Amino acid sequence: MTINIGVLVSGEGTNLQAIMDSVESGKINNATVSVVVSNKPDAPALKRAEKHGVDAVYIDPTDYKGRRWDYDQLTLKALREHGVTSEEGLVVNAGYMRILSPEFVKKFWMREMNIHPSLLPSFPGLDAPKQALDYGVKVTGCTVHFVDEGVDTGPVILQEALPILENDTVETLTTRIHEVEHRLYPEAVRLFTEKKLVVEGRRVKVLL
Ligand code: GRF
Repeated sequence: MTINIGVLVSGEGTNLQAIMDSVESGKINNATVSVVVSNKPDAPALKRAEKHGVDAVYIDPTDYKGRRWDYDQLTLKALREHGVTSEEGLVVNAGYMRILSPEFVKKFWMREMNIHPSLLPSFPGLDAPKQALDYGVKVTGCTVHFVDEGVDTGPVILQEALPILENDTVETLTTRIHEVEHRLYPEAVRLFTEKKLVVEGRRVKVLL
């Protein structure tokens, strides 16, 4: 059975691109990107989706300040209309800059992923590469995790470490983290769609 994936975006969409490419090349072979949903009208990710024939939906957040669940219900509707259900679908947050309501998160519990540019639990939240540089750590990386009600706190699916180089700037470090992300995220999606992820409490086991 083909799994319908809905990707939530706000920006550039390079991770979305990596996932669409992996579906097209057959690396992810039993899933399809069915819809891309953005809270930003001008997110380049929307154009990337359209280029690949994927429905791109913008949902205007203006009238929903302080009403996260009301807004999220519109997202749910767009997902459902594209076959991304909480029983059989997968929601992939790829640079989505909104915090989802607990109601939404509960619905897609263990069926929603996020990618974050640090080795969680270090440096959650905004500007993770800058946080790592400012702190002076020698190693950082990126993390794919299931989404729970916190910010970047859900069970870890995959992580990859990256050394911080002496002359790294926020820009160079961010670029190198992105390169890793574009490998790691499609891999996590593949493992999910092949039912190779088993969650035991906070631990996510990867079946070989
Ligand atoms: C990535 O660095 C990801 O880790 C973070 O947001 C960024 C999204 O980049 N959550 P893109 O829109 O996929 O290019």
